[in-house]
Amino acid sequence: MAQTPFYRLPYGARRDLLAQQSHLTVQQLAKIAARQRSADADLIENYLTTYGLPEGVAVNLRVNGQTIAVPMVTEEPSVIAAASNGGRLLTSERGITTKVERREVMGQIVLSHVADRTGVKAWLIAHQDELLKVANEVHPSLIGHGGGARSLRIRCIPPYWMSLDLFIDVGEAMGANLVNTICEAVANYLKEHLTVNVLMSILSNYATHSLVTAEVAVPVDQLATKTIDGTTVAQRICDASDFAEHDPYRAVTHNKGIMNGIDAVVLAMGNDWRAVESGAHAYASRHGSYQSLSRWWLEDTTLHGELTLPLALGYVGGATRVFPLVVINQQIAQITSARELMGVTAAVGLAQNLAALRALVTDGIQHGHMQLQLKSLALSVGATPGEVPAVVGRLRGSTQPTTAQAKAALLAVRQANLEK
Ligand code: MEV
Repeated sequence: MAQTPFYRLPYGARRDLLAQQSHLTVQQLAKIAARQRSADADLIENYLTTYGLPEGVAVNLRVNGQTIAVPMVTEEPSVIAAASNGGRLLTSERGITTKVERREVMGQIVLSHVADRTGVKAWLIAHQDELLKVANEVHPSLIGHGGGARSLRIRCIPPYWMSLDLFIDVGEAMGANLVNTICEAVANYLKEHLTVNVLMSILSNYATHSLVTAEVAVPVDQLATKTIDGTTVAQRICDASDFAEHDPYRAVTHNKGIMNGIDAVVLAMGNDWRAVESGAHAYASRHGSYQSLSRWWLEDTTLHGELTLPLALGYVGGATRVFPLVVINQQIAQITSARELMGVTAAVGLAQNLAALRALVTDGIQHGHMQLQLKSLALSVGATPGEVPAVVGRLRGSTQPTTAQAKAALLAVRQANLEK
């Protein structure tokens, strides 16, 4: 008899099968059970449990003249501290200013093995209005909300492909399903009216038509550390910024620091961080080599910073409806639209970047990280929240504590507790 496929098994049977195959203990199964959330079970295939990540709030951020707290979801100990620290350095009257000139999602209908590309191109150009009309008939409610298909572009990609790019204003939504449905409808129309081989219809996550820029100007005095004056710190930050424009090895880490902030906000706001990641890194490579997404430069006594990246974030729809915390997080950050969300997210990325660069070019990154890393090191060796302060206290003296030292510190703490 054919075996029931895993995904068709009831929850308990799936869990028991896994437990048997992987030799899970009763305690491990209890952990899995404790984290189960019935609402998540219908969200994905083969649901087992819910993997929680910590959520915290970056404070001190001043964006477009408003001081806000921004929820961030991350497992990296220093990320929220760095965002708040960066924000504190950027608190002029307007703080970080952001702009979003256009917010459209692109969908592409890919034609393959096109023999007469000139003829097909001419046909597509002649029928542009008709194609946009077909696109706009798919979701009339989108037009009602002020959105809709705005324009199209035709690209010939050697040796034999063509891409019909549709630019769609998806309103406040993330719009992935919307754009895919529209593209498939237009593709069907093409198949009916032209002899073409439609290879696929899908949105592009290279969101070059949803760019957001965050800018800031900071008096150099604000950057001084206990031992280095503000001008020197600013000059070194500019040098680090130039280096990241020239060396892809450094650019990747520089951008990773920016994405530490961006991903954490994107997650807290229920958006698709994989889409954001892939789009951001493609944008970083737009000049032919991988470069930094931000730039810092000095004018007299002011350090200027700028970050531009594609961020097609949605304020409604998708996972924003599924996770109850998203609406709360939007409220905490005082975000009421997709454009505001794009701006605040980019602002966090810029603040995160400044905090990392300032630490790197002054005291070094480990100096500030260590206190936070010690807590996660203690947790990683099994310290309970109640034991963490004592374990951290014992580790504080060593410059580069190892897991073995952390284990020894935990043992010592437990021993001392027994002797009390
Ligand atoms: C660590 O998660 C992020 C940094 O490496 C970023 C950077 O180097 O700019 C500190």
